[in-house]
Amino acid sequence: MIYEVYIRSFADGDGDGIGDIAGLRARLPHLSDLGVDALWITPWYPSPMTDGGYDVANYRGIDPRFGSLSDARQLIAEAHALGLRVLLDLVPNHVSDQHPWFQRALAAAPGSPERARFIFRDGRGPDGEEAPNDWRSNFGGPAWTRVTEADGCPGQWYLHLFLPGQPDLDWTNPEVRAEFEDVMRYWFELGIDGFRIDVAHGLAKAPGLPDIGSLVWPPVTHEPVDHPHWDRDEIHEIYRSWRALADTYEQPRVFVAEAWVHNPERLARYVRAGELHTAFNFDFLLAPWEAGSLYESIVATLHAHQAVGAPPTWVLSNHDTVREVSRYARAPSKRPVRRLGDVIDLPADFSAGRRRAAAAALLMLALPGGAYVYQGEELGLAEVEDLPDDGLQDPTWDQSGHSDRGRDGCRVPIPWAGLEPPFAFSPADASAPPWLPQPAGWRHQSVQAQTGDEHSMLELYRRALRLRRSHPALGDGQLRWLRTIEVPGVLAFARDPGFACIVNLSAPPIAPPDASELLISSGPLRPEGRIPADTTVWLSLTC
Ligand code: GLC
Repeated sequence: MIYEVYIRSFADGDGDGIGDIAGLRARLPHLSDLGVDALWITPWYPSPMTDGGYDVANYRGIDPRFGSLSDARQLIAEAHALGLRVLLDLVPNHVSDQHPWFQRALAAAPGSPERARFIFRDGRGPDGEEAPNDWRSNFGGPAWTRVTEADGCPGQWYLHLFLPGQPDLDWTNPEVRAEFEDVMRYWFELGIDGFRIDVAHGLAKAPGLPDIGSLVWPPVTHEPVDHPHWDRDEIHEIYRSWRALADTYEQPRVFVAEAWVHNPERLARYVRAGELHTAFNFDFLLAPWEAGSLYESIVATLHAHQAVGAPPTWVLSNHDTVREVSRYARAPSKRPVRRLGDVIDLPADFSAGRRRAAAAALLMLALPGGAYVYQGEELGLAEVEDLPDDGLQDPTWDQSGHSDRGRDGCRVPIPWAGLEPPFAFSPADASAPPWLPQPAGWRHQSVQAQTGDEHSMLELYRRALRLRRSHPALGDGQLRWLRTIEVPGVLAFARDPGFACIVNLSAPPIAPPDASELLISSGPLRPEGRIPADTTVWLSLTC
């Protein structure tokens, strides 16, 4: 299991209210005790933090808010000593506008090699006052910003699929490719075990940068879509060269792609032989708590990955999506829920959300392949939906003209111990409160409050991860659907040797198969071990 550390919110060692490497080092024993195999640490590089560090100004350093290179070295050594591997976040689609390359590009003339590292174009219209095409930024507004040239006149436009402070690189430029290979070598040599690749589906842009017009993304059809900047076929050549680089190391170096694509078949293209090792399965994350949708997602994922010989992965949330307790607290809908705005106005039953999140965790951890857990998921944290407007930090809030509250609700600093904020996220003598306020009710959900409580989400995760490590049927491999338990609203599968997972999503309580013993259950069972709705069990099959 790979655990996502959203570093700004994990643990604050120096008391400035922002998580850092010192805080993470001090909490490594928690991760190892939980049963984590590897950490993925979100960007820790020097950055103006307009997008929480996904705007990198220097790929070979550490932002002073997070610590120093020497802290990073110690963290890597300590993690390795505990048997934890360390993955960093590589942001190759764009840099910060403070990155020296972009500063030089601004100072240089149109057509210069400095500008050729980015996507600068003349505008449309008689005076070039219209953007070069109709592309939109992911955070809202146009994906182009016009610069002022050295003579003080309005000049060319540059592309940014995210914020204006995140100019896109031109991946057809060999200099860009050489630079990122060098950055990877730099960290590999420091002992890093791999990278999560940010916006892995965005690096290639269609030649000529054609308008998108009425093309919808994510696509609503199953037909392949030729989108001018998402999931283009040209991208794969880049990843083949990265894989070749990773394979030059004796100790394994691995990649996981953040690729928001059409369907599991498109995703599997990123993990074909000679490309990346794994990719996040957002199809699974977006599936509602409903047996048919989850079944379809699981089957399509297994099938697509099997066809290319790669291990599937499973993920329930990350720092960009609504926490699953809050997603599952709402009635299932066919419309995928990714953002808080998709659910905030819907009626919610948070205790159902928590039960379903626990059941989903046991489902995820029983499936063949790798699992990703986002910090706080093991504590059963819900999205914080009522952060004060003036405290919101995600650029989505401003960029959307205050219509989309953004992703801060899943980024609130973790409660570790104690009865009031900062819940030991920061030391007792901290000079600043946590960068996002924590709900008072989190006193019941801290690591300390849950430790030793056998009914807590944390102890459920600990037990499940221990079993996942020790049970020979779990981890990589195959599954077999149990046709004997074909009940609408139930998912049941077996894995060899002698393991079964039964998830009751919505049926009346169901009896476990004969000749089975309970290994773990996500919630209380009914008499005779009958499994109620919103509950998953793991069973040992005795014949
Ligand atoms: C990825 C990150 C997200 C960031 C975006 C731009 O989707 O996960 O947090 O805003 O890329 O870098």
